[in-house]
Amino acid sequence: MSEVIWGLATSHVPSIGAAMDRGMTADPVWAPLFEGYRPARDWLAQNRPDVAILVYNDHANGVDFDIVPTFAIGTAEKYQVADEGFGRRPVPHIEGDPDFSFHILHHLMDENFDLTVFSELDVDHGFTVPLSVWTPEPGDAWPCPVIPIMVNVIRYPQPTAARCYALGQALGRAIAGYDGVRTVGILGTGGMSHQLAGARAGFINPTFDHMFLEAIEKDPQKLAELSREEYIREAGSEGIELIMWLVMRGAMNAQVRKVHSVYHVPASNTAAGLALFDNRPA
Ligand code: DHB
Ligand code: FE
Repeated sequence: MSEVIWGLATSHVPSIGAAMDRGMTADPVWAPLFEGYRPARDWLAQNRPDVAILVYNDHANGVDFDIVPTFAIGTAEKYQVADEGFGRRPVPHIEGDPDFSFHILHHLMDENFDLTVFSELDVDHGFTVPLSVWTPEPGDAWPCPVIPIMVNVIRYPQPTAARCYALGQALGRAIAGYDGVRTVGILGTGGMSHQLAGARAGFINPTFDHMFLEAIEKDPQKLAELSREEYIREAGSEGIELIMWLVMRGAMNAQVRKVHSVYHVPASNTAAGLALFDNRPA
């Protein structure tokens, strides 16, 4: 029996990683965001899980744009950092946990979630930036093995928010049924509102984002009922990344305790958000 001990939702804006890699986190433009992260990082450093599961999207870096799985899982022993065109980020590769990956895969297949399987995968900023938000100074290795779960949010039609929430609930049951590890941290990544191209490039919607931050804690079902068109209209064409937070939330208990949250506009073109939840009953 394994237990989800925390859930961390965070944006994955590439320049957040670049600011860290280039020692710019104390610059006036970045300091408020990184100061905002501090309480979450301190708490996470005290609450290290045996394994983490990171729900993310690739941006046509690890997988060509002509192959876009709706849902996928990594089963590799390790994952390399993708070169997104300007070299690999100077951060450690990621250790996987193939045995746990296969357990999750079997369980999800038996619950009729037909995941694509990656036995080899390079992970891009969608994966490494959330790891850096969690652990700013990993040294030679990240705090624990990490399993990637990939969601298509880049090509229409993306899965519905309801399906992402249901996947998370099935994932929670898969975790509970595994004897191999004890404690699990789960990350839901991407968002918040942003649109990178087209007539609405630069679109940010703080009203929607604040509603989302509140509801992801207290009423995720409400967020699961929004259509993909509502996500794109309200949060922007890339803001639909927020549906990945619902996979994380679905794997957690009905009641969670908020440890810390941050909302900062803008990080690059994006409303950067972080929300950290303790999954253990008080
Ligand atoms: C930006 C945000 C993203 O989510 C992304 O994948 C790439 C860039 C940005 O705001 O610059
Ligand atoms: Fe993105």
